[in-house]
Amino acid sequence: MSILIDNIGELVTNDEGAGLLGLRRDVAVVVEGDRIAWIGPSAQAPASDQRIDAGGGAVLPGFVDSHAHLVFAGDRAAEFGARMAGEPYTGGGIRTTVAATRAASDDDLRRNAGRLVAEARRQGTTTIEIKSGYGLNVEDEARSLRIARELSDETTFLGAHVVPAGSDPGEYVDLVRGSMLAACAPYAKWVDVFCDRGAFDEEQTRAILTAGKQRGLGLRVHANQLTEGPGVRLAVELGAASADHCTHLSSADVDALAGSATVATLLPGAEFSTRSPYPDARRLIDTGVTVALATDCNPGSSYTSSMPFCIALAVRDMRMTPAEAVHAATAGGAKTLRRDDIGRLRPGARADLTVLDAPSHLHLAYRPGVPLIRQVLHNGIPSNY
Ligand code: NIG
Ligand code: FE
Repeated sequence: MSILIDNIGELVTNDEGAGLLGLRRDVAVVVEGDRIAWIGPSAQAPASDQRIDAGGGAVLPGFVDSHAHLVFAGDRAAEFGARMAGEPYTGGGIRTTVAATRAASDDDLRRNAGRLVAEARRQGTTTIEIKSGYGLNVEDEARSLRIARELSDETTFLGAHVVPAGSDPGEYVDLVRGSMLAACAPYAKWVDVFCDRGAFDEEQTRAILTAGKQRGLGLRVHANQLTEGPGVRLAVELGAASADHCTHLSSADVDALAGSATVATLLPGAEFSTRSPYPDARRLIDTGVTVALATDCNPGSSYTSSMPFCIALAVRDMRMTPAEAVHAATAGGAKTLRRDDIGRLRPGARADLTVLDAPSHLHLAYRPGVPLIRQVLHNGIPSNY
C-alpha cells in the first residue's frame, strides 16, 4: 500500500535541503508501508494507491517526545493551584502520585497512559518515551513498565525518582540497583535517576546508573532541575544519551555537554508550570551543545502532552529560533533516543510525519495554542484531526 502526499507548502526534512531544517519546496513524498519510499519534485511523483492533499500545509517529521511520565493515577491540580498562589515546587508531591498509582488497577493505569499517548498523537507526536517512577517498589515499578511497553518501545526505568515515604535511602538505593532493576530491565530500554536536591545524590546516582548500564540499559539523567549539582557532569562522564532539564548549569557543565555526545533535553513545560526561570537555551546552543525539547508530561511539574506548546515556549521564552525549536522537537529528540529512523524525513526513514494546517513551521510558535495539526501518519498509517 503506497500513499502520495502532495500539495505540500514546505517540507521539513532535517536532512537534505535548506538550513537547519533541510527545507524543501515543490516536492512530494511517497510512503510505502511504514517507510518513506521517495521524496522528489511533485511533477515526477510516481503513481500511488492513495493520495493525501496537504492543502498547501507544511509537512514535518512527527514530534519525538523523549521525556514523559505517563504511568500514574490521579492528578495534582490542587498542588498546581497552590503553586500559582505562591507555593514553591519541591518534587515532594511525587509521593502523592505514588500512593494513587499503587492503589490503581492495571486497567486504570493502562487507560490513563493510553489516553495521554492519544492526546499527544493528536498534537503531532509520533514517538513518546515513557518512564516508570510512580511505583517505587519492585511490583509497581515492574507493572508500570509492562504497561509502558504496551504503548512505546522507548521505556525508561525510573525507580530512582524519589525515596518512597518510610524507606531508608541507603536500603532503597540497594533495592533499586538490585532486585527492582532485575524485575524492570526486561521491559526497559533506558534507566534514569532524578539527581537533585531532595532526590538522589552523586554517589547514589552513579551506583544506580552503573548497575543499569551493566544490564545493558542506556542512560538518561534528570539533572540540575532544582539546583546546580553533579547530575550533568555525571551524565557526561557515564556517557548518558541525555541530561534532562539542565535548568541550573555552571560554566563547567555547559562545557562538559559541549564536548560530549550527551544531548541537553530542555523541558520548558516544567518551568512554565512551576513558575521557575527557564534554562539558558541560547547559551547551550551557542556553545555547541545539542539541544532537544520534550514535554516532561507528568501530573506534578508539567501536565502537558503538547510539543507545539513546548516549541512556542522555547521560542518565546528561551530565545530559540523557530527552526531551532522544531529541530530540537524532532531530530533532537531522536538523537536522545539514539535513533536515526525517526526525526527526519528521507527515503528509508519511518513514515512518521505531520501535516500542518499552516504553510510553514513558523506557525507553530507564531500561533500558540491553536490546534494546527491536521493529519498525522504514524508507521505509515494516517489519522485525520
Ligand atoms: O521531571 N523532577 C522529577 N520528576 C518530574 C516531576 C514529577 C512530579 O512532580 O510528579 C519532572 O519534573
Ligand atoms: Fe521528568
